[in-house]
Amino acid sequence: MPLTRRDWLAGATAAVLTPRKSSAWQATTRRVTVHPAIEVGVIQPALHGHFAEHLGSCVYGGLWVGRDSAIPNIDGFRKQAVEDLRAVGIPVLRWPGGCFADDYHWRDGIGPAARRPKRVNLWWGKYVEDNSFGTHEFLALCRLIGAEPYLAGNVGSGTPAELRDWMEYCNHPGESTLAEERKANGAPEPFNVRFWGVGNENWGCGGSLTAEEYAALYRRFATYLGGFGSVKPYLIACGPNSNDLDWTRRFFASMTATRLTSRMLPQGYAMHFYSAGKAPAAQHTVETTQEQLSSFARMEDAIRQQRALLDTYDPERKIGLLIDEWGVWDRMDPEDEKRYGRLWQPITMRGAVAAALGLNVFHRQADKLVMCNLAQIVNVLHALLLTDQARCVRTTTYHAFDLLKVHRSRTAVRVETPQDGPLGLSVSASRQDNELAVSCVNPRHDAGLRVEVTLAGAQAASATARILHDPDFNAGNTFAQPDRIVPRAHPASVQAGRVEIELPPLSVLTAMVRLS
Ligand code: AHR
Repeated sequence: MPLTRRDWLAGATAAVLTPRKSSAWQATTRRVTVHPAIEVGVIQPALHGHFAEHLGSCVYGGLWVGRDSAIPNIDGFRKQAVEDLRAVGIPVLRWPGGCFADDYHWRDGIGPAARRPKRVNLWWGKYVEDNSFGTHEFLALCRLIGAEPYLAGNVGSGTPAELRDWMEYCNHPGESTLAEERKANGAPEPFNVRFWGVGNENWGCGGSLTAEEYAALYRRFATYLGGFGSVKPYLIACGPNSNDLDWTRRFFASMTATRLTSRMLPQGYAMHFYSAGKAPAAQHTVETTQEQLSSFARMEDAIRQQRALLDTYDPERKIGLLIDEWGVWDRMDPEDEKRYGRLWQPITMRGAVAAALGLNVFHRQADKLVMCNLAQIVNVLHALLLTDQARCVRTTTYHAFDLLKVHRSRTAVRVETPQDGPLGLSVSASRQDNELAVSCVNPRHDAGLRVEVTLAGAQAASATARILHDPDFNAGNTFAQPDRIVPRAHPASVQAGRVEIELPPLSVLTAMVRLS
């Protein structure tokens, strides 16, 4: 009997889909070698970045409930969400889209809220938005949660003038008319926004352009985006869908065709990589789970291949590679979408495993990436938080990010794991002074692992661990059972300088290891 939406929301799980209990599995041993002295690169905190789009109930009803709401709020921002997001840490937040960005006109979202125009959200259900959440609200939210803002500009239906004006409005410290307007709207100091996207998915919803057409438009826009005040903007060009090497080759060939254009190269280049699910989020089977989780190996290959191709145009790696949107995208349940908004999906243990597999990939490839933004932060796709009226649940995605956040700003070090294919043990490790953080993910539902971690050229003195685990890949934190799956302390022993850990099926663990 498949799980229904009502079952899931009530916290039930379907017997037919529920894998074996933890106690039923036999652990097989996997030997891992961590090389504390072989550095991969610093794990930029922005590799743990996020994305908020005007889509479904991500912004309206999710992050933003409005100042007059009965839901506890801080100047209109859902209080619980602010507290939870501050606690997990949001290094960077991209807004307002997504596809929405190329149909967004920033002037609609400034000035007295009552006078802001009402617009149809073209891409996500054609409902009407009142623009009560605009530039000032987004930047206030970023301040509240400690996130660096990333504004995605409109290329598809906008103009270079519109985007340069948005930049001047946000960043000009002096007395231009736009800066005065910002001050009159309550922000005397410039916002100093550094990250600017020049379009989104311009091969699709951002204008249906060819790579050459987009390169020409990119150059035209970038000509006017040199910056205001002390902020040198970090311009991010639209990269490929998944590992589309042809888009990258043609975009950069076009960009580097003349000396004039090579001066216009972007600072960042953003690919999107989604992991499609062939079932509704809480109704996965073993096959659909394994197929989706296998996609993270392809994502790692895509990062290597896109970076290698970029290197042929940019051997000094002045252009940073981003994954602007990533995460699990399951089959939508129309009832869920009706109730909670477009692209709302329950988040399960499978989602936590997927999140941690993704973060482990980014840590291992830390030398090749500058930013990765999960899609999306609240109520959309691979969300950290799910809300229903006043209720706000920290999902298993949230807890996976929480378990792996210790890696931020540390130096990733080389890890050797057995080559067991895309569903084998996934490990990443990072070092700070005399301490190693080691994160392990067991994506299998039917096999436990005894992991022995040897430290090349070093000895472990002590280790502690925390784990997120549930044997049911369809189980999650629901409105009825918000804390069903939370991180817990887990044994990690040290034997002859090695760390030994038991990893149950479907688990995410971080061990903190003191070197002797
Ligand atoms: O994240 C949802 C959508 O996925 C975004 O709007 C778009 O950029 C991508 O296709």
